[in-house]
Amino acid sequence: MRLTDCHNFHDFRRLAQRRLPGPIFNYIDGAADDEVTYRQNAQSFESCDLVPNVLRGVSDIDMSTTVMGQKLDMPVYCSPTALQRLFHHRGEHAVAAAAAKYGTLFGVSSLGTVSLEEVRKTYDNPQVYQFYFHKDRGLNRAMMERAKEAGVNIMMLTVDSITGGNRERDKRTGFSIPFRLTLGGMIQFAIKPAWGLNYLFHEPFSLPQLDAHIDMGGDALSISRYFTDMLDPAMTWDDVAEMVQLWDGEFCLKGVMSVEDARKAVEIGCTGIVLSNHGGRQLDGSRAAFDQLKEIMDAVGGQIDVLMDGGVQRGTHVLKALSLGAKAVGVGRYYLYPLAAAGQNGVERALELMKVEIERDMRLMGCKSVEELSPDNLRFR
Ligand code: LAC
Repeated sequence: MRLTDCHNFHDFRRLAQRRLPGPIFNYIDGAADDEVTYRQNAQSFESCDLVPNVLRGVSDIDMSTTVMGQKLDMPVYCSPTALQRLFHHRGEHAVAAAAAKYGTLFGVSSLGTVSLEEVRKTYDNPQVYQFYFHKDRGLNRAMMERAKEAGVNIMMLTVDSITGGNRERDKRTGFSIPFRLTLGGMIQFAIKPAWGLNYLFHEPFSLPQLDAHIDMGGDALSISRYFTDMLDPAMTWDDVAEMVQLWDGEFCLKGVMSVEDARKAVEIGCTGIVLSNHGGRQLDGSRAAFDQLKEIMDAVGGQIDVLMDGGVQRGTHVLKALSLGAKAVGVGRYYLYPLAAAGQNGVERALELMKVEIERDMRLMGCKSVEELSPDNLRFR
């Protein structure tokens, strides 16, 4: 199976599975508890149907959108995700370059493996910095200052991860950084030597956003331990209001799901929210963002830019979310599998397929621009 054989999400996923050692594939592919929310995210888009209009003169399609002051050439962006150089040795560079080519937003994670400064100065597409709120307030302030200085366009605070989700696949394989694998996990690495050689012969793994603040030489750091030991479950709306003031720019909360919280985000001056359940990786059983979108739009639509992520695998999924009022839609696994499968070429192919699908689907819907998509185009079963 080659990259050119990949025509959709599932094909990329299969290719990634062939290339990656099991523990790494399962880190990306897995979710919390019984993975109910993870499955529901993709299924949520099947709860409604598109109602197209015809004969509307749709030769020219403009799928651009403006999100928190940033003009994007397409309404899909690469959500910030952790540890990208583990998946492919070019990691964040590959994803940022592909996002830049398609004129869309890219997010650097606090758990990123390339420094936010390096990414910011190398690519000129808009960038978000994905922030976690640490117990160490000094670390929080230092990270915000770093991001400001680097010229990050949007600050995105993840609010759904104040403690680690129960990722049972990671427990079984022993996935952690640096690797402290179970025997089964080690065997998985041994049977993927190509990945191992790439990993060994490229720049050593590091977490440049956090290196100065955590001791990587000590115990292996599991993602769950990072969340539980370093992030602050005491975080409140007052803390975030303070951050919004300090940042003094586009500020967005990722992981808001309730109407009450969406209203509070508006009140404290956030300019965006991302409806998200973290790809089903945190609270299993929580609602899919797409299912919750209408309720949120009814409450705060027009007052704040509403984005969503979770389960987006198709152009029609994007159209459904935009019809309900989302400004843009984030993808995670949708670009991580292609990254693992083929680096920048893989991510570019995934974004190209998505762009072609959106363009075709907008034509078939009779919509020339994203503004023409509205709830009238949708019927829930
Ligand atoms: C995860 C974090 C790191 O879901 O975002 O694994």
